[in-house]
Amino acid sequence: MGKDVIIALDFDSRAATLAFLDRFGEDKPFVKIGMELYYAEGPAIVREIKERGHKIFLDLKLHDIPNTVKKAMQVLSGLGVDMLNLHAAGTKAMMEAALEGAVRPGGARSLVIAVTQLTSTSQERMEEELLIEKPLDQVVLHYAQCAAQAGLAGVVCSPLEAGKVHAACGAGFLTVTPGVRFAGGDVGDQVRVTTPAKAKELGSDYIVVGRPITQAEDPVAAYRRCVAEFVG
Ligand code: C5P
Repeated sequence: MGKDVIIALDFDSRAATLAFLDRFGEDKPFVKIGMELYYAEGPAIVREIKERGHKIFLDLKLHDIPNTVKKAMQVLSGLGVDMLNLHAAGTKAMMEAALEGAVRPGGARSLVIAVTQLTSTSQERMEEELLIEKPLDQVVLHYAQCAAQAGLAGVVCSPLEAGKVHAACGAGFLTVTPGVRFAGGDVGDQVRVTTPAKAKELGSDYIVVGRPITQAEDPVAAYRRCVAEFVG
């Protein structure tokens, strides 16, 4: 898989999601299904979107004991999704078990990527509540290295961290990056944002874009603009 734009389908129902996807006609963007839509509609929505011809990143951020995560990955990769994720904080043993679970009967495997520290976690909260006293960027890079050692395909990170992650984990280790906004666009609750063009320059492999596309007056035009800026 090469560089691509992934649309975050942050909708709460099948109806709203399909009405949105219908606007794209024959275009079949790579999409991300997160907890909200998955918990509302279950695996049926994943199957339906897959049947429509979309690539799918199922963003459920698994974190449990290795055996449980392995079994859950078996179920999820059986849906035929292209990308799945988990928390690197679950340890290398959990990530390795997840990879074993993600192998489908024919030998194909969904890409498995890791969340390092959530972007909503500050240095202060990490120190006081998680008792992790190292600098946050060092923690993020260390978790990325553990994910690479466990054999994962990449991490979710900020485009601003993509270069450091590639330097530490190799150019082929994927950086899947949210926090993207058009120049002059509404930032919303994201704090550190970059444009699609800047994300490309910084070396992101995939950008994950939600509201700048889903809330746009013309979502198809906004998606095409993202692709033009990021993929070229
Ligand atoms: O609407 P927006 O473009 O901010 O959506 C970004 C998407 O990426 C959302 O689905 C959000 O949950 C997800 N995400 C994020 N930051 C992370 C991890 C995931 O924004 N660190």
